[in-house]
Amino acid sequence: GKSVSIGLLGLGVVGSGVVHLIKNHQEKLQHQLGCDVKVKSILVRDLEKQRDVNVGDILLTTNPNDILEDAEIDIIVEVMGGIEIAREYIHKAFQAKKHVVTANKDLVALYGRELHEMASKNKCDFYYEASVAGGIPILRGINDGLSSDRIEKVMGIVNGTTNYILTKMSDDGLSYDVALKQAQELGFAEADPTSDVEGLDAARKMAILGRLAFSMDVDLDDVEVKGISDIELEDLKYGEQLGYTMKLIGYADFQDKELEVNVQPTFLANNHPLSSVKDEYNAVYVYGKAVGETMFYGPGAGSLPTASAIMADVVAVIKNIQLGTTGNQYVKPHFPKVLKTPDR
Ligand code: NDP
Ligand code: HSE
Repeated sequence: GKSVSIGLLGLGVVGSGVVHLIKNHQEKLQHQLGCDVKVKSILVRDLEKQRDVNVGDILLTTNPNDILEDAEIDIIVEVMGGIEIAREYIHKAFQAKKHVVTANKDLVALYGRELHEMASKNKCDFYYEASVAGGIPILRGINDGLSSDRIEKVMGIVNGTTNYILTKMSDDGLSYDVALKQAQELGFAEADPTSDVEGLDAARKMAILGRLAFSMDVDLDDVEVKGISDIELEDLKYGEQLGYTMKLIGYADFQDKELEVNVQPTFLANNHPLSSVKDEYNAVYVYGKAVGETMFYGPGAGSLPTASAIMADVVAVIKNIQLGTTGNQYVKPHFPKVLKTPDR
């Protein structure tokens, strides 16, 4: 069949992974979809930068219109990050009837609803599997796998950088600063790691998860947040002596029509399943009334794992194009939001 062309916005940690996967999994994509999938052009800031991925004959440009106004491009993959510029480009993409896949939780947590409405209006797809828990197909797990269930609780480790830092501090005795630096070098941290260490990145993911899990308008402001920036090696050592491991835990609970969502450093007993989640790995526990307890586990950050989630979305979009339908990862809220009154 016809080949599908992708315009990539960003060629950093995640963008490079996407280029790599599309090149190396061409045979599987071809088999699955019956068409070629290719990256036609990529938006970057700096054309002179050394890249650790071979882009071959793909056009690199600093002009977004080269991509957003290119009629041959069917799908925009946004992996540049940031909020306002990314939002503007995605608006333009929808106006030009292009489908959008993004890894940008900052944007989805704040403007998910707006972007979804715009996508629907323009009959475009809007998917963001990579925005939560990197390579773990958690949004599909909730939206498809548990779609008929009533989810009451979602809890877990949803930030790779902080889990990496806490693991290296407690297992290897590294200082907070050295562990953070390593997480940055490995490509796990956000451009500004403040959002990782202060818990904001996890809060954004919990807002996205809460919306999908509970079919409710969960806003970022509804999430109470505390990060790990003031945790010291001493605190971890002390917990260890008592048989506890510290993790940055996201918690979302919807029971008796009341919602509670928070992110905070938490001491877990060493035999708790989340205690054994190490380095940049994430794990999300989901409790559904019918299914009971489920657990989703895998790499929560990094180039290829995140690119794998992006490609799942790209494949979903292409299947929709072939079927003449559209899809998205948004559930129309059907419960009113009542925040639990803190009893403290
Ligand atoms: P990087 O900083 O590694 O890459 C960002 C890329 O976008 C760079 O290639 C940069 O260009 C380009 N870019 C940024 N701003 C602009 C702009 N205004 N105009 C043109 N190009 C721009 O980020 P990541 O790949 O790590 O992250 C990308 C997105 O994916 C973010 O939203 C992040 O939150 C999300 N994400 C990241 C994960 C990870 O493990 N890293 C996991 C899951 C999601 P240049 O190269 O020229 O500087
Ligand atoms: N900075 C994020 C993390 C990337 O460390 O989890 C994945 O969303």
